[in-house]
Amino acid sequence: MAEELIIAQSADKKSKYETLVPQIKALTEGETDLIANLANVCAALKQTFDFFWVGFYLVRQEQLVLGPFQGPLACTRIEYGKGVCGASWKTAQTILVPDVDQFPGHIACSSASKSEIVVPGILQGKVFLVLDVDSDKLNDFDHEDARGLEAIMRCIERSAIQGPTS
Ligand code: SME
Repeated sequence: MAEELIIAQSADKKSKYETLVPQIKALTEGETDLIANLANVCAALKQTFDFFWVGFYLVRQEQLVLGPFQGPLACTRIEYGKGVCGASWKTAQTILVPDVDQFPGHIACSSASKSEIVVPGILQGKVFLVLDVDSDKLNDFDHEDARGLEAIMRCIERSAIQGPTS
């Protein structure tokens, strides 16, 4: 397991994702516990990009429940289809929100959040968690983030197939 992340802080976003994804792959391949992996992925994303908020919501029956995260306190439960996270769960699609005030039903865990991206994780054809990243700047995420975060989600899905999920 990588004990320390190797990321050039001066690199551009695309290069940072290119350097980060293989390290997350190695990290998650070496551990079968889902929560341990989610916790380290949050830490790695926070350290690499200094995101305002980054974390996971896990599907628990009819709701999303807050999982490992880095950043300010957040809402603990989100209903199916509600907010950006619930919409990503419902559609099983990545959702990019350049301005959260323009997203109908956006759930404001923090009034400082201005833009957001949510990526679903899928196991056996069903969304089992979502990765949510918030920024305190408008229009802070683009297709590079979508590609990079989806690649990270594929690592999480692979490790979840291999190991117990609780
Ligand atoms: N904004 C999210 C809720 C989660 S917090 O941002 C951490 C949403 O609309 O689903």
